[in-house]
Amino acid sequence: MSGLDAPSVALVGAGAMGGALVRGWCEAVRRGGGLTLTVVEPNFDPELQRELENVGAVLNPPDAGPVGVLVLAVKPQAFAEAAATARRFVGENTCILSIMAGVQMEKLARALGSERVVRAMPNLPARIGRGITAYVASPACSDDDKRLIEQLLAPLGEVEPLAAERLMDAVTAVSGSGPAYVFLLAEVLAVAAEQEGLDREAAMRLASRTVAGAGALMLETADSPSTLRKQVMSPGGTTEAALDILAAADGLGPLLRRAVAAAAQRSRDLGKG
Ligand SMILES: NC(=O)c1ccc[n+]([C@@H]2O[C@H](COP(=O)([O-])OP(=O)(O)OC[C@H]3O[C@@H](n4cnc5c(N)ncnc54)[C@H](OP(=O)(O)O)[C@@H]3O)[C@@H](O)[C@H]2O)c1
Repeated sequence: MSGLDAPSVALVGAGAMGGALVRGWCEAVRRGGGLTLTVVEPNFDPELQRELENVGAVLNPPDAGPVGVLVLAVKPQAFAEAAATARRFVGENTCILSIMAGVQMEKLARALGSERVVRAMPNLPARIGRGITAYVASPACSDDDKRLIEQLLAPLGEVEPLAAERLMDAVTAVSGSGPAYVFLLAEVLAVAAEQEGLDREAAMRLASRTVAGAGALMLETADSPSTLRKQVMSPGGTTEAALDILAAADGLGPLLRRAVAAAAQRSRDLGKG
């Protein structure tokens, strides 16, 4: 992660995702960046608290005022309550960054009283800094706002700007929910391995290391997934026998298209609610 341009930030909710952000920001500060941070979180992880104290952050201050960026990282169900707490951080120049799934920009702007709103969707590997976070900024956000938001999201992994909020439903269905599809792949591969005679533990080790190793290789090399897939195959070989089934007209392609379409539709429905 690069440095931070000394923003003043208030973070509401420092659980799995908020905690990952805080750890990354502390790291950036140690490398020489600046940050004035206020955190509101009822059950603060003591280890994280020590880290924050080392970089001079304030925890749960009773009388904190407006900040440059207000970050909301509570569960969507806790939004109404969190918004009541968070309003005191919003002033004329406050940009709001929400990582809550499904809470739309218009609702954020209305509840918090700022038109400068960014909505972001991280994914689970963000917990180890290997995620991808797509974000969309409202028209009221300046280029400086967007640059700062990208800096603040960088601890979660790669950052991907989006042109329109409606694309968030597709992002939710692909990268937001996607880690679950990959974990399911490891699970069903392990079951298939057991069916071929391996014991349960060995089956799970082989399946999960295969998924993790293939993912790591894809990141490390510049080769596309399709190039890498062809590197495993030889004509008439074992991989080809499996891919004849997986890549068939009724194989993995149409199944995943249906699954992603169902997730995107669910995201649209939840957004309306
Ligand atoms: N985890 C993911 O893979 C993922 C992916 C994409 C998006 N997101 C989004 O990221 C957000 C955070 O998810 P998470 O997994 O980090 O959740 P989490 O671990 O439950 O963290 C949320 C934290 O906020 C605290 N909190 C609740 N109400 C609060 C309030 N009024 N003021 C201050 N803090 C409050 C919670 O405390 P308590 O535990 O005491 O309630 C908890 O520590 C969610 O909106 C989710 O949609 C998560």
